[in-house]
Amino acid sequence: MQLPIAVKETERATLQNQVFEQIRVMIAEGRLKDGDPLPATRELSLQMGISCNTALLAYERLISEGYVYTKPYVGTFVSDNLHDRIAPRLVDGQDAPQSESCQLLSLNDAQRLRQFVRIHSLQNPHRKRLSADFWVGRPDPASFPVKVWSQHIWKQLQRSSAALTQYNEPSGLEALRLAISDHLGPARGIAVDAGQIMIVGGCQDGFNLIARLLVSPGTPLVIENPCYQGAAYVFESFGAEPYPVTVDEHGMDVSQLPDVSSPVAYLTPSHQYPMGATLSLSRRMELLAWADKHDAYILEDDYDSDFRFTGAPLTALKGLDRNDRVVYMGTFSKSMGPGLRLGYIVLPKALVAPARRLKALMNNGQSWLEQAAMADFMFEGGFRRHLRRMRQTYLERRDVLLAALKSNFGDCQVRGEDAGMHLTWRIPDRYPHAEEIERLAVLEGVGVYALSTGAALQFGTTEESRRYLVLGYAALTPREIEQGIARLAECLSKHAIPSPPG
Ligand SMILES: Cc1ncc(COP(=O)(O)O)c(C=O)c1O
Repeated sequence: MQLPIAVKETERATLQNQVFEQIRVMIAEGRLKDGDPLPATRELSLQMGISCNTALLAYERLISEGYVYTKPYVGTFVSDNLHDRIAPRLVDGQDAPQSESCQLLSLNDAQRLRQFVRIHSLQNPHRKRLSADFWVGRPDPASFPVKVWSQHIWKQLQRSSAALTQYNEPSGLEALRLAISDHLGPARGIAVDAGQIMIVGGCQDGFNLIARLLVSPGTPLVIENPCYQGAAYVFESFGAEPYPVTVDEHGMDVSQLPDVSSPVAYLTPSHQYPMGATLSLSRRMELLAWADKHDAYILEDDYDSDFRFTGAPLTALKGLDRNDRVVYMGTFSKSMGPGLRLGYIVLPKALVAPARRLKALMNNGQSWLEQAAMADFMFEGGFRRHLRRMRQTYLERRDVLLAALKSNFGDCQVRGEDAGMHLTWRIPDRYPHAEEIERLAVLEGVGVYALSTGAALQFGTTEESRRYLVLGYAALTPREIEQGIARLAECLSKHAIPSPPG
């Protein structure tokens, strides 16, 4: 099989990147379809006049970003359901309007728009076919406080509907910023004036705002490896130069921090995404000292710190930050629901005024009604009670998941089980790698996710990184969790690699 692609030596892009990019564009445009085979790397290298290693590295990147997968001894194939992922269906049974990445682009345009056509969707690619879905990042839909929330919405509308017919403060509703500053003291050890808080449309909006403020082409971006795609792709789209730093069981390995000037560092210290580690106190202090020395800003993404099951939560980096180096980002996506699109940033003093100007330029601030309802919910104590209830619910579900993994698979190695709404499971060696398990499980109606599908980005895939599945448990009932894991075990029992005799 021959692919209609060609590369040439240029200063702008390495041969490996050109191969990666052209195949990626063919997949994004639908010219290569789900399950289509790719030529063997040797065949491709002969066809294009490039080294085998170049072809291999391009394929490795396609695999690590989830565009293709390999079947040992068979070949390399375009990932299944990829087109659902590129053009998610918004309404069951109806095609969504084509996303930008799916429209037919000329190769030139596709290359010009390269930064903006990376796929980052938090919509589950397989959701229609699944009876047990361990997709990440979803709170329990049945626990959303519908009744109380609608009372707050209604009360706010009656009290002050005029706010809907005018532009409001771009940094956000003062009442909500006050409520957040009251919450952050006891919850995260952050003493901050409401004037330093900005309301945003979730972390994703915050990443864009901070990247626009702090990143220009070539800005060094220190980032966890693996890391959260949603942030990495935004920074990449502004031209940041990534410096991936390995993550271990204590979080980002700060001994690897680079000696670069004025970098931005992005990390998830309270529950590393996707591996789940908590950054230790000594590493937090070292990171802050590094930031002082290198004139760095640290972006602390505290996305699911509301749920900690074991021990007291560590004070947020922002709470330890004496020199205003940390930009702290929180979201209501986990505590309430991502459909609200509400989050907040605690800004260093020097960034307050520029961020406010930028927020006005970007969208003049967030929707007034939800901000007002959220402020009410927080002031009246409803948010605190909701968090307490959800922590108990998620703890129970986590325990059911751990027990189900143990009883179905024997000793199980998990990471990140102390906090949050997902954990990472290391697949026992007798089973295939994560992408293959994901594919097999979907056929049985169970959604489990390789790092590359589960919104994680790995710089340089290794065999080890393909041994992990991310399992979100918050939105599943205990019964669904038990049944899902039992079905997964049954499915995998047909694919276990027999251990060598003797
Ligand atoms: C690491 C990380 N940060 C932030 C978010 C939340 O993003 P948002 O607030 O835009 O919904 C997620 C969602 O899953 C996440 O995994």
